[in-house]
Amino acid sequence: MLRRPWAKAAVFLLCLAPLSRLAWRAWSGDLTPNPIEYITHFTGDWAIRMLVATLAITPLRKVLHLPDLIRFRRMIGLFAFFYASLHFATWFGLDKFFDLHEILRDFVKRRFILAGLATFLTMLPLALTSTKGWIRRLGGRRWRMLHRLVYCSGITAAVHYFWLVKSDIRLPALYGSLVAILLAYRAGASWLAHRAAAMPKYEKHFKPVE
Ligand code: HEM
Repeated sequence: MLRRPWAKAAVFLLCLAPLSRLAWRAWSGDLTPNPIEYITHFTGDWAIRMLVATLAITPLRKVLHLPDLIRFRRMIGLFAFFYASLHFATWFGLDKFFDLHEILRDFVKRRFILAGLATFLTMLPLALTSTKGWIRRLGGRRWRMLHRLVYCSGITAAVHYFWLVKSDIRLPALYGSLVAILLAYRAGASWLAHRAAAMPKYEKHFKPVE
Protein backbone atom coordinates (compact mmCIF):
# COMPACT_ATOMS: atom_id res chain seq x y z
CA MET A 1 0.00 0.00 0.00
CA LEU A 2 2.83 2.42 0.87
CA ARG A 3 4.20 2.04 -2.68
CA ARG A 4 0.97 3.07 -4.38
CA PRO A 5 1.09 6.40 -6.23
CA TRP A 6 -1.83 7.74 -4.20
CA ALA A 7 -0.15 7.00 -0.86
CA LYS A 8 1.90 10.22 -1.09
CA ALA A 9 -1.22 12.25 -1.90
CA ALA A 10 -2.98 10.67 1.09
CA VAL A 11 -0.10 11.57 3.45
CA PHE A 12 -0.03 15.09 1.97
CA LEU A 13 -3.74 15.55 2.70
CA LEU A 14 -3.29 14.12 6.17
CA CYS A 15 -0.49 16.61 6.91
CA LEU A 16 -2.69 19.41 5.59
CA ALA A 17 -5.64 18.42 7.77
CA PRO A 18 -4.54 20.49 10.82
CA LEU A 19 -4.26 23.61 8.65
CA SER A 20 -7.74 22.98 7.21
CA ARG A 21 -9.06 22.62 10.75
CA LEU A 22 -7.46 25.89 11.77
CA ALA A 23 -8.79 27.64 8.64
CA TRP A 24 -12.27 26.24 9.32
CA ARG A 25 -12.23 27.48 12.92
CA ALA A 26 -11.03 30.90 11.73
CA TRP A 27 -13.77 30.99 9.09
CA SER A 28 -16.46 30.13 11.62
CA GLY A 29 -15.10 32.63 14.18
CA ASP A 30 -14.24 29.83 16.59
CA LEU A 31 -10.65 30.66 17.53
CA THR A 32 -11.43 31.15 21.25
CA PRO A 33 -11.43 34.61 22.93
CA ASN A 34 -7.64 34.78 22.38
CA PRO A 35 -7.10 33.81 18.72
CA ILE A 36 -3.40 34.72 18.62
CA GLU A 37 -2.63 32.50 21.60
CA TYR A 38 -4.76 29.72 20.10
CA ILE A 39 -2.97 29.87 16.72
CA THR A 40 0.47 30.03 18.41
CA HIS A 41 -0.25 26.93 20.48
CA PHE A 42 -1.95 25.07 17.63
CA THR A 43 0.88 25.62 15.13
CA GLY A 44 3.58 24.95 17.78
CA ASP A 45 1.89 21.65 18.68
CA TRP A 46 1.74 20.53 15.04
CA ALA A 47 5.31 21.64 14.33
CA ILE A 48 6.69 19.48 17.16
CA ARG A 49 4.44 16.51 16.29
CA MET A 50 5.60 16.53 12.68
CA LEU A 51 9.21 16.98 13.74
CA VAL A 52 9.06 13.93 16.02
CA ALA A 53 7.25 11.98 13.27
CA THR A 54 10.10 12.85 10.87
CA LEU A 55 12.66 11.61 13.40
CA ALA A 56 10.68 8.41 13.90
CA ILE A 57 10.57 7.40 10.21
CA THR A 58 14.01 5.75 10.04
CA PRO A 59 13.63 3.64 13.24
CA LEU A 60 10.07 2.69 12.25
CA ARG A 61 11.25 1.54 8.80
CA LYS A 62 13.70 -0.84 10.46
CA VAL A 63 11.58 -2.00 13.37
CA LEU A 64 8.38 -2.52 11.36
CA HIS A 65 10.23 -3.77 8.24
CA LEU A 66 8.56 -1.06 6.16
CA PRO A 67 11.37 0.40 4.02
CA ASP A 68 8.85 2.31 1.88
CA LEU A 69 8.12 4.66 4.76
CA ILE A 70 11.15 6.61 3.51
CA ARG A 71 8.95 7.98 0.70
CA PHE A 72 7.18 10.21 3.20
CA ARG A 73 10.07 11.47 5.32
CA ARG A 74 10.88 14.56 3.23
CA MET A 75 7.23 15.57 2.99
CA ILE A 76 6.58 15.22 6.73
CA GLY A 77 9.81 17.09 7.50
CA LEU A 78 8.77 19.93 5.21
CA PHE A 79 5.36 20.05 6.86
CA ALA A 80 7.12 20.30 10.25
CA PHE A 81 8.97 23.32 8.90
CA PHE A 82 5.77 24.71 7.39
CA TYR A 83 3.91 24.58 10.73
CA ALA A 84 7.01 25.97 12.51
CA SER A 85 7.05 28.88 10.02
CA LEU A 86 3.36 29.59 10.65
CA HIS A 87 4.07 29.43 14.39
CA PHE A 88 7.00 31.84 14.09
CA ALA A 89 5.05 34.17 11.76
CA THR A 90 2.11 34.27 14.20
CA TRP A 91 4.42 35.32 17.02
CA PHE A 92 6.44 37.74 14.86
CA GLY A 93 3.55 39.35 12.98
CA LEU A 94 0.38 38.94 15.03
CA ASP A 95 1.76 38.86 18.56
CA LYS A 96 4.73 41.24 18.32
CA PHE A 97 3.39 43.16 15.33
CA PHE A 98 6.86 43.27 13.67
CA ASP A 99 8.15 45.42 16.54
CA LEU A 100 11.88 44.59 16.34
CA HIS A 101 12.63 46.22 19.69
CA GLU A 102 10.00 44.05 21.43
CA ILE A 103 11.20 40.97 19.54
CA LEU A 104 14.84 41.47 20.56
CA ARG A 105 13.75 42.09 24.15
CA ASP A 106 11.85 38.78 24.10
CA PHE A 107 14.90 36.91 22.79
CA VAL A 108 17.00 38.27 25.64
CA LYS A 109 14.44 38.05 28.43
CA ARG A 110 12.65 34.76 27.72
CA ARG A 111 14.93 31.78 27.35
CA PHE A 112 12.19 29.59 25.84
CA ILE A 113 11.96 32.04 22.92
CA LEU A 114 15.69 31.62 22.33
CA ALA A 115 15.27 27.81 22.29
CA GLY A 116 12.40 28.26 19.78
CA LEU A 117 14.64 30.39 17.59
CA ALA A 118 17.41 27.78 17.79
CA THR A 119 14.91 25.12 16.69
CA PHE A 120 13.66 27.22 13.82
CA LEU A 121 17.20 28.08 12.68
CA THR A 122 18.29 24.44 12.72
CA MET A 123 15.22 23.42 10.72
CA LEU A 124 15.77 26.13 8.10
CA PRO A 125 18.87 24.68 6.34
CA LEU A 126 17.24 21.24 6.36
CA ALA A 127 14.18 22.56 4.55
CA LEU A 128 16.29 24.57 2.09
CA THR A 129 18.51 21.60 1.18
CA SER A 130 15.79 18.98 1.04
CA THR A 131 15.70 18.80 -2.77
CA LYS A 132 17.44 16.24 -5.02
CA GLY A 133 19.49 19.11 -6.50
CA TRP A 134 20.96 19.90 -3.09
CA ILE A 135 21.73 16.24 -2.37
CA ARG A 136 23.70 16.20 -5.66
CA ARG A 137 25.43 19.51 -4.95
CA LEU A 138 26.47 18.60 -1.40
CA GLY A 139 27.15 14.92 -2.05
CA GLY A 140 25.36 12.18 -0.14
CA ARG A 141 27.84 12.09 2.77
CA ARG A 142 27.85 15.83 3.48
CA TRP A 143 24.09 16.01 2.97
CA ARG A 144 23.54 13.24 5.52
CA MET A 145 25.90 14.96 7.98
CA LEU A 146 23.99 18.24 7.60
CA HIS A 147 20.66 16.50 8.03
CA ARG A 148 21.76 15.10 11.38
CA LEU A 149 20.92 18.62 12.54
CA VAL A 150 17.36 17.37 12.79
CA TYR A 151 18.33 15.75 16.11
CA CYS A 152 19.40 19.18 17.43
CA SER A 153 16.02 20.53 16.28
CA GLY A 154 14.29 17.73 18.22
CA ILE A 155 16.27 18.49 21.38
CA THR A 156 15.82 22.28 21.26
CA ALA A 157 12.12 21.89 20.43
CA ALA A 158 11.63 19.78 23.57
CA VAL A 159 13.67 22.32 25.61
CA HIS A 160 11.54 25.16 24.16
CA TYR A 161 8.40 23.36 25.34
CA PHE A 162 9.90 22.47 28.77
CA TRP A 163 10.91 26.06 29.42
CA LEU A 164 7.60 27.57 28.45
CA VAL A 165 5.26 25.44 30.56
CA LYS A 166 4.60 26.58 34.08
CA SER A 167 3.52 23.47 35.97
CA ASP A 168 2.17 20.59 33.87
CA ILE A 169 5.28 19.12 32.24
CA ARG A 170 3.59 15.95 30.93
CA LEU A 171 3.57 16.89 27.23
CA PRO A 172 7.10 18.35 27.06
CA ALA A 173 8.29 15.28 29.00
CA LEU A 174 6.58 13.03 26.46
CA TYR A 175 8.20 14.79 23.48
CA GLY A 176 11.56 14.95 25.30
CA SER A 177 11.45 11.20 26.00
CA LEU A 178 10.48 10.38 22.41
CA VAL A 179 13.39 12.47 21.08
CA ALA A 180 15.75 10.79 23.60
CA ILE A 181 14.60 7.29 22.56
CA LEU A 182 14.96 8.10 18.85
CA LEU A 183 18.42 9.58 19.44
CA ALA A 184 19.50 6.56 21.48
CA TYR A 185 18.27 4.28 18.67
CA ARG A 186 20.24 6.28 16.12
CA ALA A 187 23.41 6.25 18.27
CA GLY A 188 23.06 2.48 18.89
CA ALA A 189 22.54 1.75 15.19
CA SER A 190 25.55 3.81 14.11
CA TRP A 191 27.75 2.20 16.82
CA LEU A 192 26.76 -1.27 15.57
CA ALA A 193 27.42 -0.23 11.96
CA HIS A 194 30.90 1.07 12.92
CA ARG A 195 31.66 -2.11 14.81
CA ALA A 196 30.56 -4.26 11.87
CA ALA A 197 32.72 -2.17 9.51
CA ALA A 198 35.73 -2.55 11.82
CA MET A 199 35.38 -6.33 12.10
CA PRO A 200 37.12 -7.39 8.84
CA LYS A 201 40.16 -5.21 9.78
CA TYR A 202 40.22 -6.85 13.18
CA GLU A 203 40.10 -10.31 11.65
CA LYS A 204 42.98 -9.43 9.29
CA HIS A 205 45.32 -8.67 12.19
CA PHE A 206 44.17 -11.32 14.61
CA LYS A 207 43.50 -14.55 12.82
CA PRO A 208 41.19 -16.77 14.86
CA VAL A 209 42.97 -19.71 16.49
CA GLU A 210 42.02 -22.91 14.68
C1 HEM B 1 11.68 31.79 16.78
C2 HEM B 1 10.95 30.71 16.85
C3 HEM B 1 9.86 30.49 17.86
C4 HEM B 1 9.21 31.37 18.67
C5 HEM B 1 9.43 32.87 18.78
C6 HEM B 1 8.24 30.63 19.42
C7 HEM B 1 7.36 31.19 20.34
C8 HEM B 1 6.41 30.50 21.05
C9 HEM B 1 5.44 31.11 21.93
C10 HEM B 1 5.33 32.60 22.23
C11 HEM B 1 4.69 30.12 22.45
C12 HEM B 1 3.52 30.26 23.45
C13 HEM B 1 4.05 30.34 24.84
C14 HEM B 1 3.01 30.55 25.90
O1 HEM B 1 1.83 30.58 25.61
O2 HEM B 1 3.41 30.70 27.05
C15 HEM B 1 5.17 28.88 21.89
C16 HEM B 1 4.67 27.64 22.18
C17 HEM B 1 5.10 26.48 21.60
N1 HEM B 1 6.06 26.33 20.61
FE1 HEM B 1 7.19 27.82 19.86
N2 HEM B 1 8.30 29.31 19.09
C18 HEM B 1 9.29 29.18 18.12
C19 HEM B 1 9.67 28.04 17.46
C20 HEM B 1 9.10 26.81 17.68
C21 HEM B 1 9.42 25.63 16.94
C22 HEM B 1 10.41 25.59 15.78
C23 HEM B 1 8.67 24.61 17.46
C24 HEM B 1 8.59 23.16 17.09
C25 HEM B 1 9.24 22.57 16.16
C26 HEM B 1 7.87 25.17 18.52
C27 HEM B 1 6.98 24.47 19.32
C28 HEM B 1 6.16 25.01 20.29
C29 HEM B 1 5.26 24.25 21.11
C30 HEM B 1 5.08 22.74 21.09
C31 HEM B 1 4.59 25.17 21.93
C32 HEM B 1 3.56 24.84 23.01
C33 HEM B 1 2.20 24.72 22.42
C34 HEM B 1 1.16 24.43 23.48
O3 HEM B 1 1.37 24.81 24.64
O4 HEM B 1 0.13 23.84 23.13
N3 HEM B 1 8.14 26.50 18.63
N4 HEM B 1 6.22 29.14 21.04
